[in-house]
Amino acid sequence: MKITLADGRVIKGNKKNSLLDTLQANGIFLTASCGGKGTCGKCRIELLEGDLNIKGFGKLTQEERSRGIALACQSYPEGDITINIPKESMLTVGDQIAISRTRDLFESLLARKAKITPLVTREKISLPPPTLDDHISDLERLKRSLSEREITLDFPHDFVLTLADRLRKENWEFTLLYQKESGRALGIEPLNGGNGKYGLAIDIGTTTVVLYLVDLSDGRVVDVSSTYNSQMRYGDDVITRIVNATEGGKLQELRKAVVTDINDLLKPLLALHQIRRDDIESVVISGNTTMTHLFWGLNPAYIREEPYIPTINRFPVWEAGDSGIRVMKKSPVYTIPNVASYVGGDIVAGVLATGMHRSSEISLLMDIGTNGEIVIGNNEWLMTAACSAGPCFEGSGIRSGMRASPGAIEDIKINRETLEPEIKVIGNSEPMGICGSGMIDAVSEMLLSGIMNQKGQLIKESSPERVREGEEGLEYLIHSTGKMDIVLTQVDIENIIRAKAAIFAGVNLLLGEVGLTTDMIEKVYIAGGFGNFLDTEKAIILGML
Ligand code: FES
Repeated sequence: MKITLADGRVIKGNKKNSLLDTLQANGIFLTASCGGKGTCGKCRIELLEGDLNIKGFGKLTQEERSRGIALACQSYPEGDITINIPKESMLTVGDQIAISRTRDLFESLLARKAKITPLVTREKISLPPPTLDDHISDLERLKRSLSEREITLDFPHDFVLTLADRLRKENWEFTLLYQKESGRALGIEPLNGGNGKYGLAIDIGTTTVVLYLVDLSDGRVVDVSSTYNSQMRYGDDVITRIVNATEGGKLQELRKAVVTDINDLLKPLLALHQIRRDDIESVVISGNTTMTHLFWGLNPAYIREEPYIPTINRFPVWEAGDSGIRVMKKSPVYTIPNVASYVGGDIVAGVLATGMHRSSEISLLMDIGTNGEIVIGNNEWLMTAACSAGPCFEGSGIRSGMRASPGAIEDIKINRETLEPEIKVIGNSEPMGICGSGMIDAVSEMLLSGIMNQKGQLIKESSPERVREGEEGLEYLIHSTGKMDIVLTQVDIENIIRAKAAIFAGVNLLLGEVGLTTDMIEKVYIAGGFGNFLDTEKAIILGML
């Protein structure tokens, strides 16, 4: 059967697969925050012609249903159909996104004189050429010289394959490249071949992937590039992706999605700076425990099940060729270690970046996303906890919620006299929804302007035009595009309050464990995509910090 899209494209469909799966199989990706469970309400389509077998309506209102709006993940074609996919349902991945603040972070690391410790070690070697009296083999000759320096290495087959010719070509004087952690010999370079070439530092976030291209000779950041993590096609949060990878059998698809993102970011950077793939000789990966498992294709199933055990916390140094990243095949890939299933290498990297482990001041580091990860401590001790904030700050489970991407309302001010909101939209485009920082703004502004009381209840009389009766009870109208109303409902507000309470409770529990109070914290660091846009003053008004 035929599925015709409003823009004229035609794809094949069948009764067995949901529209979401069929569109996905044809390279058309809809926002699917809940991974197709029918609960997030983000995968809306509009039926223009034909019939659908609809298994559920989720959060759709009566009015939307009467307009032919359906959830793609719950809809199965009964015959030929024509559909329209609204702009707000389309998932934007693959686009470059703003990264200015992450660039600042790296500059600040350099300003603190962070030491460059490349993954590849270079050792200058001078061997006595063989004679009739000293006729041990080439490899034994190299090993003998290394043992005098107390270096023991493994020599892979491809290293030994070219050894005889390389030693003679370099006239027995050369630089040996090897990897300390794995104890592997990597190659031979001319004696004055330089101090190292280029490295990649890659931050695999649940939402974004950021790639730094670094000159290893001096630590200079050559360039930075970033995109959305394409795994979002399989759900917004780590749990949905684990379910898709394991029960859905899509582990390899998820792995390929993020590796392709990395390769797509890398290719134009290499072309722009005229760097060869083979000149990338080190890669460092940071991500939460699920992200690093998915990147390496490891089964993440037991991260989700009690007692929450990952396959691995401290990764061996593996080779780029095994990861699929298109750089020199033998380049070592160092994965920043995880602490536990829900405290990953991203938090460890956060601690390193803030330097809180070196300071005598007591600091608090919070990474706020679907999971709120918290670290408290100083140069003598560190304690960490993870709390489930739920996906609402990422836009999921909120009627008009969306990720912090173009079209999202990120900033709201409510005029105290007219009670009219003034909004700021990411990308200055037409608003399509509201992101986490916009929600914090909206709720604190509603409190300050008397639209909502201390208990988080909307007050209808405060602004009869803006506070109105909706299908889920009272709702506050933030903006109307004519076609679509962007609202915060009473249920949304309760979700936001619960999420902020989870984070606040996490901080307090951790403080209680170490016998400290909030006024003893001297510095607070907020990390994560959401943290980047957060107005800290508003977060304090809301009681989040
Ligand atoms: S409701 Fe369809 S993907 Fe969430």
